[in-house]
Amino acid sequence: MSDGRAHWRSRFGFILAAAGSAVGLGNLWKFPYVTGTNGGGAFVLVYLLCIVLVGLPIMLAEVTLGRMAQTGPVGAFRRHGGGGFTLFGGMGVLCAVVILSYYSVVAGWSLHYIWLAAQGTFATGDKEAIVAHFGALISDPVTSTFWHVVFMAVTIAIVYGGVRRGVERAARWLMPTLFVLMLVMVVYATTLEGFGRALDFVFAFRTDKLTPEGVLEALGHSFFTLSLGMGAMLTYGSYLSKQDDVVSASVAIGVLDTLVALMACLVLFPITFTHGMEPSAGPGLVFVSMPVAFSQLPGPTFWALLFFVLLFFAALSSAISLLEVATAYLIDERGWERPRATLVCGLSIMLLGIPSALANGTALFGAHTERLVGKNWLDAFDYVASNWLLPLGGLGIALVMAYRVGDEARRTELALGSRIGKLGGFYLTWLRLLRYLVPVCIVLVMLHAIGVI
Ligand code: TRP
Repeated sequence: MSDGRAHWRSRFGFILAAAGSAVGLGNLWKFPYVTGTNGGGAFVLVYLLCIVLVGLPIMLAEVTLGRMAQTGPVGAFRRHGGGGFTLFGGMGVLCAVVILSYYSVVAGWSLHYIWLAAQGTFATGDKEAIVAHFGALISDPVTSTFWHVVFMAVTIAIVYGGVRRGVERAARWLMPTLFVLMLVMVVYATTLEGFGRALDFVFAFRTDKLTPEGVLEALGHSFFTLSLGMGAMLTYGSYLSKQDDVVSASVAIGVLDTLVALMACLVLFPITFTHGMEPSAGPGLVFVSMPVAFSQLPGPTFWALLFFVLLFFAALSSAISLLEVATAYLIDERGWERPRATLVCGLSIMLLGIPSALANGTALFGAHTERLVGKNWLDAFDYVASNWLLPLGGLGIALVMAYRVGDEARRTELALGSRIGKLGGFYLTWLRLLRYLVPVCIVLVMLHAIGVI
């Protein structure tokens, strides 16, 4: 089965490509702003717990299931889950389409900011003007739509040409560059007077601010940021060879992703506090705070360009993995050619994203869906996909791996190429997490969020 199927050049290449999928707008744009709107500390702690106790076991399950099945989520769920489980694969593909539709709108904002930076817009040091740029952007449907279309076109072009060597090669230098730039920014942020307050905000445990919805959001975000719950990691894992160590790769991806998310907070919040801005500013946080900081530095245009280009690349490597899941479905399951599959998926997603680009505060669906009231398309799509569909998909993966795959096959697959995977204690801990803790956590958090418990 694995004959003829493309594989990564090396395990390191896989780690970088998978980290490229994981590290994206979720880390640099969304995590700081949801941390801000959820009041900081306690939210971060719950998020870290979700990563370690739920995210990592599922990451290992997804990558392992992908390598075992050597195919995308629909085929993998059909073969190893069977019955109703196949539906989870379909839900994953749908989820990829929904997420990419609004992801591309935000990614488009990064393109707009590259364009603004290139014109020297952020060299003036005028804070009010920088704040106004973001307001102008999101209330201008034409500009948002334009950059969304451009971003989708770039993503389509890459996936159209066959993505693996491109992604793997690009990730090899993009990821390290992003990491180094973030480190430099963190060092700069430590010199700001707001750094102490920021540390306190991000790491102090203030339970009073945490709501049941916040806990659901922390869980949902841990899936979103690790690209879990819809088969992206499963698909990437399906390109791994049997000699590769899935355990250390999964841990490396999780650690890299978490480091970048925490670094993003340690850059954004010091700036936010130093300049008297609100941590709960919402989706505009990164697009306002960063340019304000750059405008205070020597060479503002250089820094702004560098940052927004990297934000764009981080978003692109994630978007590629989303489009790849939808495209691979049409290729693997429907027998389409790659060019046609890419175009049909890509263009549909482009259309589906337009309401997200237009929406600025237009409430959706009317008053009967209480939780969605006041959310625009972008927020509503994000809410449904990340907070509900991804954890549900993750539940499906955990159940299939823990209850449907045979013990012998599972143990052997995990152990292939991995020293830690061969340890009985490690295997059993992982299995118990997938069997009991992961499903119970996901179900409890969901019931809690809807107010049942
Ligand atoms: N993880 C990416 C981010 O943090 C987004 C992403 C890429 C994603 N592929 C995914 C999210 C698959 C969920 C599922 O920006």
